[in-house]
Amino acid sequence: MQILKTIAEVRGELPGRERVVLVPTMGALHAGHVALLEEARRWAGDGGTVVASIFVNPTQFGPREDLKDYPRDLDGDISACKNAGVDVIFAPEDGEMYATDASVTVTEEALSMHLCGRSRPGHFAGVATVVLKLINIVRPMAAVFGKKDYQQWAIVRRLMRDLNLEVEIIGVETVREGDGLAMSSRNAYLGEEERAQAPVMRAALLSAVVAMEGGERDANELERLVRDRLAKDAPLGRIDYVNVVGRDDMQLLAHVDGEAVLAISVYFGKSRLIDNIELGGG
Ligand code: PAJ
Repeated sequence: MQILKTIAEVRGELPGRERVVLVPTMGALHAGHVALLEEARRWAGDGGTVVASIFVNPTQFGPREDLKDYPRDLDGDISACKNAGVDVIFAPEDGEMYATDASVTVTEEALSMHLCGRSRPGHFAGVATVVLKLINIVRPMAAVFGKKDYQQWAIVRRLMRDLNLEVEIIGVETVREGDGLAMSSRNAYLGEEERAQAPVMRAALLSAVVAMEGGERDANELERLVRDRLAKDAPLGRIDYVNVVGRDDMQLLAHVDGEAVLAISVYFGKSRLIDNIELGGG
């Protein structure tokens, strides 16, 4: 496994290789990331090249967000990548990725309106910009993203479509702790009681699915069920949003007629956790 720090090294190594599959990450890798790396390995096949990028992208953090406290563990990440069959780690410094006077940004203006885009202004411009840069540097045939960040996954697909990038975008199911909590590097910051209540997010989403199976189609009613469950069983949580949106356009829905996704975000202390569940259409 190679560990490359500069764009010049990547440009020297990767061209000419077939079936290059990219997994963009911010490091502090856990089992959720590993599932993405393994999916990339399957896509690349034996002869292909799996590239994991590890870069805590400053442009996607707001001024009051946790950039400084974001966990960093390059040694742990290197061994996780080795075990998952990664061929190349690309781990650039900030200055390698952004010129101090960088002035071009990619903004997405429709899918970013609600959910995390609403509570984190500028976040998805930072994500879209860095994902485009990583794709231009690595030039993969495919890139792998987690459905835990459902809105991010949809925005990346839109980025590929609207900027005519021929990169297959693969989505991987959310990997969870035994009690249902979606794995996240931010879980480490939860206090004991917060950690005990956080799995209610998953239980609340599942209760909406049960209501759907019972015939409920009204989005407000489904959202209310989730809010009530969180208020009752996770009183330490402060709800950021609970919304039913379309799976591709991320626009708010009043009724669930076909495919949709129910997405939630809850603060526990300073940690903001997200989760979602697909509704309707299998
Ligand atoms: P990061 O939070 O490190 O996540 C990297 C990838 O891992 C994302 O595609 C995310 O959806 C996926 N992931 C995280 N937790 C997961 C889980 N429990 N199950 C399945 N997949 C999971 O997302 C980012 O970094 C950044 O925004 C990035 C795309 C790298 C751009 O900077």
